[in-house]
Amino acid sequence: MENKRPEWTSYISFILATVGSSVGLGNIWRFPYIMGEYGGAIFLLVYLFIIAFICVIPLALELAMGKIYKGDVVSVYDKINPKFKVFGLLGVITSILICCFYFVVGGWIINYIWIFLINDVPADFSAYFLTMNSDPQIPIILTILFLLLTVIFPFLGVNKGIEKANNIMMPLFGLMLLILAGYALTLSGAPEGLKFMLKPDFSKISGPMFLAAFGQALFTLSIGMGAMITYGSYLKQEVNIKKSVYTLIVFDTIVALLAGVVIFPIVFTNGIEPTAGATLVFISLPQIFLSLPFTRILAVLFFVLLFFAAITSGISLLETAVACFSDHYKMSRKKASFLLFFVIALLSIPASLSFGLMADFQIFGKTFFDFLDSLTSNILMPVGTIIVCLVCGWYAKNIAKEALGEGVFSNFLMFILKFILPVIMTAVLFVGLT
Ligand code: PHE
Repeated sequence: MENKRPEWTSYISFILATVGSSVGLGNIWRFPYIMGEYGGAIFLLVYLFIIAFICVIPLALELAMGKIYKGDVVSVYDKINPKFKVFGLLGVITSILICCFYFVVGGWIINYIWIFLINDVPADFSAYFLTMNSDPQIPIILTILFLLLTVIFPFLGVNKGIEKANNIMMPLFGLMLLILAGYALTLSGAPEGLKFMLKPDFSKISGPMFLAAFGQALFTLSIGMGAMITYGSYLKQEVNIKKSVYTLIVFDTIVALLAGVVIFPIVFTNGIEPTAGATLVFISLPQIFLSLPFTRILAVLFFVLLFFAAITSGISLLETAVACFSDHYKMSRKKASFLLFFVIALLSIPASLSFGLMADFQIFGKTFFDFLDSLTSNILMPVGTIIVCLVCGWYAKNIAKEALGEGVFSNFLMFILKFILPVIMTAVLFVGLT
C-alpha cells in the first residue's frame, strides 16, 4: 500500500508544484496593495524577516509531516496520534471553504480572458463588473467552469495531472510576468510606481503592520490547511526540506515583488489610486489597459497570467481534499474528484452571487464571499498553523528535527517554534477575531 504512493518525478517538479500552490491571487494583487498601504519598503523588510525566520518554520514542518508520514492531511495527523485526526479534518474543511470563494475569482478571470480575446471589450469596466455579477446565472456558471478546469488535474492524478499542469503553467507564468514587468517599466509612471513600492515610511511601523505581514505570509505560503502536508507526502526520501523551503520562499517573494513592478507603474501612469482586491484587478486595471497600446495582447497576457496563478493554487486546494478522500477514506481518486466537484459547486453558489443577487445575504455583517475569505484567512489558517507548531514543537519532535535540522541556527528556529510562534499566532488570531 505504502510503496504505491505517487512521488514527484524530479526535484524541479516538486518545486514547481509547491511554488504553483503558493503563488496565487494573494501574490498578484494582495501583496502589492498591502505593501503600499503599510509603508512600502518598511513593510517589505518586516515581511521578509517574518517569512525568512518565522513562517518558514511551519512551512518546513508541514512538508516534513507529509514526507515522514506519507499520507494526506487526515492520515498524517492520525498516524502522529489518532486523537489528532480532527486537526486533519479541519484542514480539509478549510481547503474546501477556501475553494468556495477563490474559484469565484477564477471564474471572473475566465470571463475577462474571454472578453479580451474574442468579445467586444466594454468601455466602462465598473459598469461591466456590476452587470456580470448581478446576473443570476453567469457568476455561478463561471465559478463552476473554473472548478471544472481545476478538478481535472487532481482527477488525472499526481504525476499525469498535477505535476504536468505545474510543469507547463509555472514556467509560462514566469515568462509572462517578466514580459509584463519589462513592459511596465517602460511606462512614464514607472519611477513613481517603484518609489511607492520601495519608499520606506518609518511612521508606518505599527502592530497592525506586523499582523498584516503575518496574515499575508500564511496565505501566500499556503500554510495552515494541509496543502503543503499533502504535497510533501509525494516527496522522495532524499530531498532536503530545509534547502527546499528557502528556494520556495525566494520564488514566492520574487513573484510578489514583480507583480508590484507590473501593477504600480501602470496604475501611476494613469493617476489612479491603488485600491484593493477586486476593484484594482477587475475594474481599474482593465480600464487602464483600454488606453494603452496593444490593449488586447496586454490584457490577455495579464489575465492568462492570473489564471495560471489561480489554477495552480486551486489544484493544491483540491488535492488536499481529494488525497484525503482517496487515501484515508479509500475512495477512488476519480470518485473523490467527482464528489468534491459537486460539494464545491453547491457551496460556492452563495459566494458567487455575493456581488449581486445575494449581496444582502450576510453573516456577521459580511457577504458570504467576504465571510468565507475572513473565516479562512483570519481564523482557520492561523488555527491550523498554531496546531502544526504545537504538535511538532512539543509532541512529534522527530518532525521538527527533519524540518529544521540540527546546529545552532536550528536550535534558534526550534526556540522560535516552541515559544514565540504559538504566542504570535495566537495574537494574529485574536486580531482576526476582533
Ligand atoms: N497561496 C495562494 C495564494 O497566494 C492561496 C492558497 C492558500 C493556496 C492556501 C492553497 C492553499 O493565492
